[in-house]
Amino acid sequence: MAKNNGKSGVMNSFRLSGARSSFKGWKDRLFSGASNDIGIDLGTANTLVYVRGKGIVVNEPSVVAVNEKTGQVVAVGAMAKDMLGRTPAHIKAVRPLVDGVISDFEVTEEMLSYLMNRASAFLPKRFLGPRVVVGVPSGVTNVEVRAVRDATRNAGAREVYIVEQPMAGAIGIRLPVHDPVGSMVIDIGGGTTDIAVISLGGIVRSKNLKIAGDKLNNDIISYIRNEFKILIGETTAEAVKIAVGSVIPDEPMETTIRGRDLITGLPREVVITDSDIREAMSQSIEALVEASKEVLETTPPEILSDVMKRGAYLVGGGALIKGLDALLSDTLRLPVYIADDPLTAIARGAGVILEDIDRFKPVLIESEDDLPSSS
Ligand SMILES: Nc1ncnc2c1ncn2[C@@H]1O[C@H](COP(=O)(O)OP(=O)(O)OP(=O)(O)O)[C@@H](O)[C@H]1O
Ligand SMILES: [Mg+2]
Repeated sequence: MAKNNGKSGVMNSFRLSGARSSFKGWKDRLFSGASNDIGIDLGTANTLVYVRGKGIVVNEPSVVAVNEKTGQVVAVGAMAKDMLGRTPAHIKAVRPLVDGVISDFEVTEEMLSYLMNRASAFLPKRFLGPRVVVGVPSGVTNVEVRAVRDATRNAGAREVYIVEQPMAGAIGIRLPVHDPVGSMVIDIGGGTTDIAVISLGGIVRSKNLKIAGDKLNNDIISYIRNEFKILIGETTAEAVKIAVGSVIPDEPMETTIRGRDLITGLPREVVITDSDIREAMSQSIEALVEASKEVLETTPPEILSDVMKRGAYLVGGGALIKGLDALLSDTLRLPVYIADDPLTAIARGAGVILEDIDRFKPVLIESEDDLPSSS
């Protein structure tokens, strides 16, 4: 398992020495079995940190507020999210991830290091950098994986393991990912929707599309601008989506929103109904359903038959869109279940991986063991 880089070559030549082996024993005791392990779901909308043995200890929106005059971070997480669209000129609230990938490397690193530092209060061996399992969307490029790994390492991780988010989600909700049986997971986050069919510890078929919660918010902003001639912000759009968004007509719902009248420039209130939001989101929802269908269409028959029988599981915040489970179930003609606590499934999966990292090594897309620089 040891990585064969220049350093391990040097180590091997010492292996017979008694002093070295006792040092190694000491080091193994220090590093192994350590519960200094954390799992991170680095999401476009929310970042969660799981500490082995403790559970989820950090759950914050992926937003950072930076003072542009001094370059200093003013706030991270919920406090920074409250500032979105409300900052004075010299403070900028940014979301460092867009569409599931890092768009601002430095800010991502700042955010990670702040959140990991907060989680470190729960770590037993605080002087040691933690081993970290991080989830990335399926099908990300090597460059994107490297960016996540570097950001995590620069934020203080000793070792970084990368797992594809739908795999982590499947593990988090305890699907039998190692078995020769097909499982289907649809992870609808803020920036991306990941649709994956898993069997024997691997992703058999998957599709990643940049249509998820953020796109739905933008759909709502456009719709309200076009239909009502009112401009609303992202935060309002998200609140409306959660309050009255549904993809199948059911009991009527409505809410009042405030925005700027595009004609008079003045504030105006308008009542929005579930049917408005359904109309606003319809194209994106259709694309999402279509993509799920396409994944099934290319799934090998034996695995398809497992999935038809066992159903598909929705994780991520988008799993909570009202009626989406029923709509998918009708169109795909299979049972569709909303996972328990869908927003934490990926972080919980990273936590399960940490419990037995060797068993899960085959499902990780990249692993890297860093030797301490002194050796
Ligand atoms: N009850 C709800 N109804 C509809 N959408 C919801 C609900 N609750 C949360 N969401 C949406 O879920 C999204 C966040 O989900 P999640 O935390 O899984 O995303 P993420 O993991 O940060 O993003 P990604 O996986 O794309 O990087 C947001 O767009 C939010 O608006
Ligand atoms: Mg996610």
